[in-house]
Amino acid sequence: MGIDTSRTPQEYEVLTGGGAEAGELSRRGLSRRQMLRRAVGLSLGLLGGIATYDALTMLYPNLSGQFGSKITLKDKASYPAASQTAVALDEKGIFYEQSTKAYIMHLSGDGARFDLTGEALTNNMEAQNWVKDGDGSYWVALYQVCVHLGCKVPFRNDCVSFKCPCHGSHYNMDGEYLDGPAPRSLDRFTMSFEGGNVVVDTGKLNQHIQRPDAQTRILAVPGVQCAA
Ligand code: FES
Repeated sequence: MGIDTSRTPQEYEVLTGGGAEAGELSRRGLSRRQMLRRAVGLSLGLLGGIATYDALTMLYPNLSGQFGSKITLKDKASYPAASQTAVALDEKGIFYEQSTKAYIMHLSGDGARFDLTGEALTNNMEAQNWVKDGDGSYWVALYQVCVHLGCKVPFRNDCVSFKCPCHGSHYNMDGEYLDGPAPRSLDRFTMSFEGGNVVVDTGKLNQHIQRPDAQTRILAVPGVQCAA
């Protein structure tokens, strides 16, 4: 059988089940070492291509409702508001949404205990991506990742806050830092409403909320301690 010079020896191996490489080596006068070098180069090129594709996918995610872009969630009524003392994960006040990798906080305006008032409250809410709804309630979309070393942070009904199981970083229900090794408060996404639905822009992450002090803490610290 003649050798088709448009194919590489490796392609012949696949097509013929073996034997082509020897013939090709002989025909081209190439050493086995040269052929090996070419094969390694081909493999590395392929791996490099895959790595580049992954990196580009992260940098430029598919803008079609995937994580990294705007994601439309359920209608607002699916996320009932609660006061700080009545929060229950996925029932009222705090909801986890897998597609956005975020917790949606919906805090009732009635009885919300703020540590700030007036302009200071308004300015800090704006800086920390709070959204005030027409009925006086408040929303925040918190990224699930602990800002210490990246563990997923669960919400704890028993102490109305987020407590990281890895090294104990502790965040209020609005993501504000409470205690532990975390360098700042939880990161949060830009969120909005469209046609009555909650929309989270997972391409816009605010990673600049410092540990709060008396001038910046929005929400009163929880009145209960986490058991462990
Ligand atoms: Fe959360 Fe360390 S990763 S406290």
